Amino acid sequence: MEDKNNFDFAISIGTFVFTGSQALQGWASYQQSLRDSERAQQEAERAQQEAERAQQESKEGRTQAAADRMMEPFTPKKKKAEVVPRGIMKTIEERILGWDAHATIIAGRFGAGKSVAVEEVLRDMQGIYVHQVRGNDWEEKLYKRLGLDGPDMLEEVLGRVGDKLKRPPILLLDIPRTTKQGMDTVSSFAKDLSSDSNLAHVIVCASSAAMAISFDAGGSARQNDIWVGDLTEKEAEELLKLHEHHNDWKRFVAACGFNAMDLVEACKISVEAKKAEMEQKAREEVQVFKDQCKIAGDTGEEILERLLANRQAGKGAGRLCTAASPKKVAMWIREEGCHPVIWHTTDREYKFASELHANAATEILKSTSQSTP
Ligand SMILES: Nc1ncnc2c1ncn2[C@@H]1O[C@H](COP(=O)(O)OP(=O)(O)O)[C@@H](O)[C@H]1O
Ligand SMILES: [Mg+2]
Repeated sequence: MEDKNNFDFAISIGTFVFTGSQALQGWASYQQSLRDSERAQQEAERAQQEAERAQQESKEGRTQAAADRMMEPFTPKKKKAEVVPRGIMKTIEERILGWDAHATIIAGRFGAGKSVAVEEVLRDMQGIYVHQVRGNDWEEKLYKRLGLDGPDMLEEVLGRVGDKLKRPPILLLDIPRTTKQGMDTVSSFAKDLSSDSNLAHVIVCASSAAMAISFDAGGSARQNDIWVGDLTEKEAEELLKLHEHHNDWKRFVAACGFNAMDLVEACKISVEAKKAEMEQKAREEVQVFKDQCKIAGDTGEEILERLLANRQAGKGAGRLCTAASPKKVAMWIREEGCHPVIWHTTDREYKFASELHANAATEILKSTSQSTP
């Protein structure tokens, strides 16, 4: 019996010791896992701090890289020797050198030479950044191209460049004729930087009257409008001389007018071919505008008639010659890709897009009035 008791006792002791050692082991491993998780937590914290520091550093690095990039002298697409100096460049230059606030809108017909003129003025200047506005995401694309996260970083970059140059940098937003969206964000972007914070001179180069008219950074007092028109006779002569037409340049302007792009294209094909192409296009554009632009009544026809009536006096047509607003007319023109007239943003009147369009309108409206009793 005693043996049995002793035996049981030994078992109990054994179990106790075993359980005790197990408990100890459990405790130890519990402690170990506590230490492990503490260490893991510390490591995670350290990793996070490091990631933040790296992010800060790369943010700083990216900010400085963008500023350095803006400090490089600006090189236009065209070589200096290929560019004809123009009177309008002087106007743009004066605006840039005397800038103290607000955005500048450069408007004018497609191919008039807006981009070439403004880029030439900026040649070799520091603190210049040129960006094409295409679609609603133009702003994200601008930040991405500069390696920046958003507007706050851009402001920091502009501030740094401004401090270095002792004048605010210039952001040139070039809006191709085909661009249809983004003008509201261009306006608020320009207002923020050029009117509110004065961190940069935003120049908007708009190749369609619709985009130029849509620009609104808080009223006309908050913007400066510049119109790039046709070449003068002297400028056209110089342009054609650059294209090896020293002796026959007059033939080009007599046939094709004074739009820079038209003249350059005439040099590539021939005066005759270009003239025929332009005449046909002018006739079509006038006809379509007259017959199809009916925004409020016979809008197209009314504008053409008033333009013809005022032509002798050398005047365009005021906005009240039709019930539709210039903005709506300009939007129709852009949507349809039909450009017989243009809303002149500084003279504030409609004008024929070219002499060829005026001639086509004379013919087309005369034949209409003859055929209607
Ligand atoms: N000052 C100039 N000197 C030489 N070529 C010019 C000049 N201005 C315009 N051009 C020619 O006309 C084309 C159209 O000019 P561009 O500035 O692109 O027009 P816009 O921006 O008004 O649509 C240019 O590609 C160039 O061949
Ligand atoms: Mg352009």
